[in-house]
Amino acid sequence: MLNSDQIVYLNGEFVALADARISVLDRGFIYGDGVYEVIPIYARTPFRMPQHLKRLRYSLDGIRLANPYTEEEWDALICELAAKQPFDDQALYLQITRGVAKRDHAFPQGVAPTVFMMSNPLPLPSREQVDKGVAVVTADDNRWQRCDLKTTSLLGNVLMRQLAVDGGAVETVMFRDGFLTEASSSNVLIVKGGKVIAPPKDNLILPGITYDATLEVARDAGVPLDVRKVTRAEAFAADEMWLSSSTKEVLAITRIDGAPFGAGTPGPVFRRVWQAFQASKPKVVAETF
Ligand SMILES: Cc1ncc(COP(=O)(O)O)c(C=O)c1O
Repeated sequence: MLNSDQIVYLNGEFVALADARISVLDRGFIYGDGVYEVIPIYARTPFRMPQHLKRLRYSLDGIRLANPYTEEEWDALICELAAKQPFDDQALYLQITRGVAKRDHAFPQGVAPTVFMMSNPLPLPSREQVDKGVAVVTADDNRWQRCDLKTTSLLGNVLMRQLAVDGGAVETVMFRDGFLTEASSSNVLIVKGGKVIAPPKDNLILPGITYDATLEVARDAGVPLDVRKVTRAEAFAADEMWLSSSTKEVLAITRIDGAPFGAGTPGPVFRRVWQAFQASKPKVVAETF
């Protein structure tokens, strides 16, 4: 349900969602010519804000769009928007597009970018999803070669995610040329012989902030790590497989393509790392489960 009274940010102003308007010629609408971020906010405290702002800068550089604000300005605007919401745990979405111009593929000159932000309740996984794990389907990764940029052009990911929904699953785990990449809106990690193995942060996956957070808490908990390419055969033969993202945190995969995976329940390494992850984040005021 849309809450049209919700306060959002658009081009320098805080306005009600119902009053936030952009031109149909915005290049975000016409070309998907923009980048975005999703920042989890726990108990009104943004989680890993500097890392999110660094990735935002990387995405902007990758599409050759100037950053409209300094890090301090972003920080202040994000905190101001979060403070205007009536809930404590939030998923703050921000997007920057190349602005409004006559339709032409080439970059327009002298056009101001469009900056939009909104913040919604943080949709954390249910207790059942944490305890029992989740189902995924698999597919060949047919997206472009710059999956490291968090661009608003998400049609490849949208189609992949719908495959999961069609298959009664939460995510689609993808393989490119026989190697594990990521899922439609999450990173994927495996566990074999007690070791966490994660695909490298190259151009084929989004450098997930939760991926880094998960590896950090795993390392601090004494779990051995290996960052390297993972074949499809290795993934299917893994002891555990996890999803990570800002809204899923870390979740165990217990069904793949309609069949039980691994032991069919979240494994011991997952349980250890999930606990450590929970301990690492700002305290959640209102549990969603
Ligand atoms: C394709 C893709 N991979 C990975 C992630 C996880 O990134 P993060 O942990 O920063 O949320 C996302 C998040 O939305 C995503 O869309």
